[in-house]
Amino acid sequence: MNLAELNRVAEAMVAPGRGILAADESSATIKKRFDAIGTESTDNTRRDYRELLFRSTEAMAKYISGVILYDETIRQNAKDGTPLVKVIEKAGSLPGIKVDKGLKPLPFCPGEVVTEGLDGLRERLVEYRGLGAKFAKWRAVIDIGAGIPTSTCVDTNAHALARYAALCQDEGIVPIVEPEVLMDGEHDIDRCYAATEWTLKRVFAELYQQRVALEGMVLKPNMVVAGKQCGKRASVEEVADKTLRVLKACVPAAVPGIAFLSGGQSDEDATAHLDAMNKTGGLPWRLTFSYGRALQAAPQKAWAGKAENVAGAQRAFAHRAMMNGLAALGQWRSELERKAA
Ligand code: 13P
Repeated sequence: MNLAELNRVAEAMVAPGRGILAADESSATIKKRFDAIGTESTDNTRRDYRELLFRSTEAMAKYISGVILYDETIRQNAKDGTPLVKVIEKAGSLPGIKVDKGLKPLPFCPGEVVTEGLDGLRERLVEYRGLGAKFAKWRAVIDIGAGIPTSTCVDTNAHALARYAALCQDEGIVPIVEPEVLMDGEHDIDRCYAATEWTLKRVFAELYQQRVALEGMVLKPNMVVAGKQCGKRASVEEVADKTLRVLKACVPAAVPGIAFLSGGQSDEDATAHLDAMNKTGGLPWRLTFSYGRALQAAPQKAWAGKAENVAGAQRAFAHRAMMNGLAALGQWRSELERKAA
């Protein structure tokens, strides 16, 4: 393992004022997004849409350190024949790849899932490295509900995440370790805190057991928020405070950076929460974004599958990228949102 090189890539992924674009929606998920904007999901429409993001040259160069791709996209060419990976690299951003194979029901644990994809992973990592991937992503999902999560679910997912991370580092690829405690449900913010703490403690114990070098990884956690159906909303200050508290209790300082998922928060909440944490300052790791929905909802709506809307969609993407880039520095202000509206 070349730890210096892994660390160099991990640091670049969380460089000041930059974050990650999660554009790794599976074919089923991107179809759902396209359905919402009345656009058919085909190889070409998926290519056109993702190409418009990656060709938002200024936004990519300034605010996007890396892009997480789906298997189809890492092999796809832009309309002019240039591999999309090259378009991303030319914009000064790092290509990455989602390598998990999705969620499957966890036996004997009703309502819980385990992430699959360890079989054959080393071979797939070698291939993806050849296609240009510098980092990878594996998402584990922990749901909160009556009697869940169970320790079976937390432990099984933490173990799989650590096995994945070790394989990545052994093949010279920086792992994004993503344990996502879902926002779905009626639970309050303190239940989210407890489930997040439990999950992160188990994940770091398993990473140690599998000999993963923390300097060569990026953590992608959820923020500590109330469930979507909870009657009691938490303020921006409370989310920032509780998220920082759980991270300080669980994430060693050797980890170069933490890049949050947006998880179904509104665009502006995802930005405001990140900003509030960074305004606190004095943190041992960089805190940035690795957003899917919170970066793409606006450009998807503006694009609506029409070629004549590409420039508008690129402006919408550039705006969200800039807002989150500022939040990664603790320099965002809500007036900046209103001015753009
Ligand atoms: P969201 O920001 O939409 O949660 O997506 C991030 C991601 O990569 C989930 O795995």
